[in-house]
Amino acid sequence: MNAGRKILVVGGGGYVGPVLTEHLLGAGYGVRNMDLFLYATQEVLAPFDANPRFEMVQADHCDRARLAGALDGVTDVVILGGLVGDPITRKYPDAHRVINHDGILGLIDTLDGRGLDRVVFVSTCSNYGLVDGDALAGEDYPLKPLSLYAEAKVAVEQRLLALAGKVDYRPTILRFATAFGLAPRMRFDLTVNEFTREMYLGRELLVYDSHTWRPYCHLGDFCDVIGRVLEAAERDVAFQVFNAGGDTGNFTKQMIVDAILEFLPDAPIRYENKGQDTRNYRVDFAKIRTVLDFEPAYTVRDGISELIKALDDQRFDDADARPNFYGNYEIDYPVAG
Ligand SMILES: NC(=O)c1ccc[n+]([C@@H]2O[C@H](COP(=O)([O-])OP(=O)(O)OC[C@H]3O[C@@H](n4cnc5c(N)ncnc54)[C@H](O)[C@@H]3O)[C@@H](O)[C@H]2O)c1
Repeated sequence: MNAGRKILVVGGGGYVGPVLTEHLLGAGYGVRNMDLFLYATQEVLAPFDANPRFEMVQADHCDRARLAGALDGVTDVVILGGLVGDPITRKYPDAHRVINHDGILGLIDTLDGRGLDRVVFVSTCSNYGLVDGDALAGEDYPLKPLSLYAEAKVAVEQRLLALAGKVDYRPTILRFATAFGLAPRMRFDLTVNEFTREMYLGRELLVYDSHTWRPYCHLGDFCDVIGRVLEAAERDVAFQVFNAGGDTGNFTKQMIVDAILEFLPDAPIRYENKGQDTRNYRVDFAKIRTVLDFEPAYTVRDGISELIKALDDQRFDDADARPNFYGNYEIDYPVAG
C-alpha cells in the first residue's frame, strides 16, 4: 500500500530521524532524507545507503533551490529539521531565527502546488510552557512559549493552520512530548537519557526543580504516531493538532530519578530548586488516543532499562569524547550569533 509513496524527511539526520527512516522504510515507503548535519552525524544514515528506496540529500532547508529539488517526486513531507532545544537556540539566536523561523516558514511556502498528500510538522509540548495547578493541557490549552525554540514552533503552527482552504496539501501538527529511547545518534542532553547515563556512570546528578512535570515518550512510539498520521483518513488529521504521547508519560523529574534508582539504587543525587528552566506542564493525550487509536507501547522504565543494557554493552563509550555528536551543544552555521 505504501510502495507508491515517497516521504521527504527534513532534518532526518539527528536523534529522531534515523529511527523514523528505518520505520518508514520498513513500512514500505520510499524515503528521501534532507539534512545539513549540523552536528556531523552523517554516519547515522550510512546504513541505509544500500537500500534502493533510500536517498540522501545533504543540504540546508533554507536553500530554496536545493529544497525544491528535494521536493521533486515526493508524495509527503515530515518536518523534523531545526535547531532543537532551549539551550542551543539561546546560544545561537540568529541561527535560530534563520533556521527555525524564517527557514521553516519558507519551506512551508514552497510546499503548495506540488500535489503533496500529507505534511507532518513536528512541534513540541514545550509550547504549553507553564500549566496552572493540576490542569492537563489539551490541544486547545493556551500556549505560553517560554523560549525562542517554542516561540518559533508556535509561529509555524499558526502559519500552517491559517492555510486551510488555501493550499493543496493537508498539514498535521504533532506536539511531541520530550523524547527518550535508543537511537544511532543518542541525545544525552535529554532528561531520561541524560539522567540514566549519569547515574549509571556513578556521577553525582544535579537535579533542578525536581517537582516540575513534563510528558515523555519513546522514539519508537513517535515513529508509530507519524506512521498513523500518514495512513489516517484525511478528515481525521487534516489541519489538526495532536499532542503526541500518552497520559502515563507525564512525569516529574523526581519520578524519573526514582524510576532510575529502582535499577541503580546507589547512584548519587543532589537537588536544587529555582533552576533556570521554568517550564512545568502536564499534558492531556486524549485526542490522539481517541482519533488515532494511539497509546504508547513503551514506558519510561522501558527506556531506562534498554539504555542501561546498551551501556552495559559499552555501546556509547565514546559519548564523553564526542559530546556534540551526542547532544545539541555547538554548531558551525554561517550566520553571526
Ligand atoms: N527530541 C525531543 O525530545 C523532541 C521533543 C519535542 C519535539 N521534538 C522535535 O522533533 C524534531 C527532531 O528532534 P531531534 O531530537 O531529532 O533533533 P536533532 O537536533 O537531533 O535533529 C535535528 C536535525 O535537523 C538538522 N537541521 C538543522 N538545521 C537544518 C537545516 N537548516 N537544514 C537541514 N537540516 C537541518 C540537524 O542537522 C539535525 O540532524 C525537531 O523538530 C524537534 O523540535 C523533539
